[in-house]
Amino acid sequence: MKRVAGGAKRSASPTRAAKPRLKTLDRALSKAGIASRTEARQWIARGRLKVNGKPARDPEQWVDLDRDKILLDGKPLRGEKKIYILLYKPKGVLTTHNDPDRRKTVYSLLDRVDQWVFPVGRLDQDTSGLLLMTNDSSLAEQLTNPEYHVPKTYLVKSSITLNDEQLGRLRDGIELKDGLTRPAKVRRLRDVSGRTVFELTITEGRNRQVRRMVEALGGKVLKLVRVGIGPISISGQQIGTWRELSRTEVEALRRSVRRPKAGSGLVGGGAGSAKGGEGQGEDLAVAEVVFEQSGDHDTDEKGHGGVESPRRHEGGAEALEPAPWLGE
Ligand code: URA
Repeated sequence: MKRVAGGAKRSASPTRAAKPRLKTLDRALSKAGIASRTEARQWIARGRLKVNGKPARDPEQWVDLDRDKILLDGKPLRGEKKIYILLYKPKGVLTTHNDPDRRKTVYSLLDRVDQWVFPVGRLDQDTSGLLLMTNDSSLAEQLTNPEYHVPKTYLVKSSITLNDEQLGRLRDGIELKDGLTRPAKVRRLRDVSGRTVFELTITEGRNRQVRRMVEALGGKVLKLVRVGIGPISISGQQIGTWRELSRTEVEALRRSVRRPKAGSGLVGGGAGSAKGGEGQGEDLAVAEVVFEQSGDHDTDEKGHGGVESPRRHEGGAEALEPAPWLGE
């Protein structure tokens, strides 16, 4: 049992069913969007926090967000202004905050951002493209939760030519070790020199999903660029740069996370969604520019891409700190 600020005793693991909004103190700070949990723990250790007038030194202390008075440097904790950033992540950069090996992370690209933001989902080290970063944990949770079916669109270059039957398997759902993938939108853009370049829109975000889908067909991904999330597109953004989303874009993102009706299949068109055969030439040209702009060499067929290979957990995942909104 842990003592909850305010005096009551509660079980160590409060559930959503419990009425009070309970969080550990470090999580309360990250949820407010003002610090990562690591930073929050440092601040707590330095004695910058008080809960109900008493100095708080234990990051695991439970606090009730609605009742307990939490002060940081003597000032009440308030949710900061929400900020929404679109970053064009280059290949080779890690989607993490702290890398023990001091490799380049997405945070090194966010000059002039003075609020704490975290990535909405992950891109592998070898993947480039659209990464949203925000301090809005509730929208982030919806964008990454597969139940909301938010489409994510990728440009993919495979190490082999994929025939129609193989693209059909991607479209219908393909068996991976963590289960069948959802139906996807797939559009061949070009076959060249034994490679296929295609556009893939999926509504889940499993670990290394696109790479594993292509591997299930006997190929490797040589190049992977995320070009769209829901209505937001990477188009026009220079690689390695960021911008704030406009209010209209944030509203459109919010609309894209509406819970779909049961059985409605794929929801929304997505920024780079397939539109039958129409506009294919135009989209191919866009793909060429995106691949050209991504500036990296193809990952070779053994998975090496001219950058250090990502450190992996057992299951092949990048070694990443958990997203702050996970496990709440
Ligand atoms: N799918 C992958 O395999 N990698 C990514 O980075 C994103 C989607």
